[in-house]
Amino acid sequence: QSLGAGHPLSAGLTSDSALVRALQGYRPEHTPVWFMRQAGRSLPEYRELRSGTRMLEACATPELASEITLQPLRRHGVDAAVFFSDIVVPLSLVGVDVDIVPGRGPVFAQPIRSREDVVRCRAEFTPERLRAALDPIRDAVALTTAELGSTPLIGFAGAPFTLAAYLVEGGPSRDHLRARSLMHSDPETWRELLEWTADLSGVFLQAQVEAGASAVQLFDSWAGSLGAEDYRTHVAPASRRTLDAVRPYRYRDTELEGYTSLDRRVPIIHFAVGSGHLLEELAAVGVSALGVDWRTPLDEASRLLGDVLPLQGNINPAYLDAPQAVLETHLRDVLARGRRAPGHVLNLGHGVPPEADPTVLTRIVEFAHAHRA
Ligand code: CP3
Repeated sequence: QSLGAGHPLSAGLTSDSALVRALQGYRPEHTPVWFMRQAGRSLPEYRELRSGTRMLEACATPELASEITLQPLRRHGVDAAVFFSDIVVPLSLVGVDVDIVPGRGPVFAQPIRSREDVVRCRAEFTPERLRAALDPIRDAVALTTAELGSTPLIGFAGAPFTLAAYLVEGGPSRDHLRARSLMHSDPETWRELLEWTADLSGVFLQAQVEAGASAVQLFDSWAGSLGAEDYRTHVAPASRRTLDAVRPYRYRDTELEGYTSLDRRVPIIHFAVGSGHLLEELAAVGVSALGVDWRTPLDEASRLLGDVLPLQGNINPAYLDAPQAVLETHLRDVLARGRRAPGHVLNLGHGVPPEADPTVLTRIVEFAHAHRA
């Protein structure tokens, strides 16, 4: 399956970008850098644009979602844009009653706890129905990539486990115990729940790739609460299923013609917070690169993985308020450790905190660009 000729990867616009090359295991001139949650409350221009509009309404308004996606690019000069949306957007668009409550996170009117709940949801909120509701996402991505030119747009989705954790709990929770209990008390219902969330996230990712995203990231934010055995048995198959929705898309690489394989796929980044004990499992679902949080040094992560996978991360967000010299020492350390991996994309070890000073983020970008990869 080929990406359309107008897609930024097939058209040769983003195929030789620092981000895409690093995710393919090359060392571009400088280490590419972007920040998870770079679009958001740390930016005054975001707070102004969002005022009076609910989060999920903003996500379903293409002009607004596109403009918010572009804001951190203009301000920081990052090497990639990340699509402004949320992991629960596909659930919301397909009709599930969910709201994002400021300061709290996604809250569901009806938690999904029983076999009957899962059967009802699967019957009502189908992938076909979601596909028919995704025009606002396709339009927002198309508007954005038209502005971005040679800067890649990263699309994303929530991993089936993290979505299921929200659905079963009905909202944010500390340890996701109700979700992890369902996994063991009724593994068959659990499997069907994860297949459903996997398919919706897969359709969401596919729409972003078809509309112009040049890479994707799967966020399994809460997978760190699982042991490796539970992850392998009860979660990994569903995450693989989500990513299978984008694996078939191919493009011909224009830049390296005649040297290496011309046929390439859209790069996939996989990220989970607090997942130092799961890195091999996260890699085993079949990805191009792993996001690493700030707890695991990048050289250790790379060694554990046999030095074969590009890595993304992992500036400790706790350094953002430190004096410039202290922050720079930390950045040098992260960049040095990142050299052990075949490719390195600089990022924070988790999302930008809402109270972060955006001028510090701009300085991190300048620092990364001033140092050879
Ligand atoms: O990274 C980006 O700039 C792209 C946008 C993005 C958002 N959410 C926008 C957002 C991405 C990639 C996400 C993913 C997401 N959403 C995750 C996975 C990443 C992670 O942080 O681990 C999770 C767990 C969610 C669920 C969610 N949505 C939470 C926990 C919250 C915060 C609630 C709060 O107010 O503290 C949201 C809301 C949300 N998603 C905001 C943004 C910019 C804040 C909305 C606002 O401005 O009020």
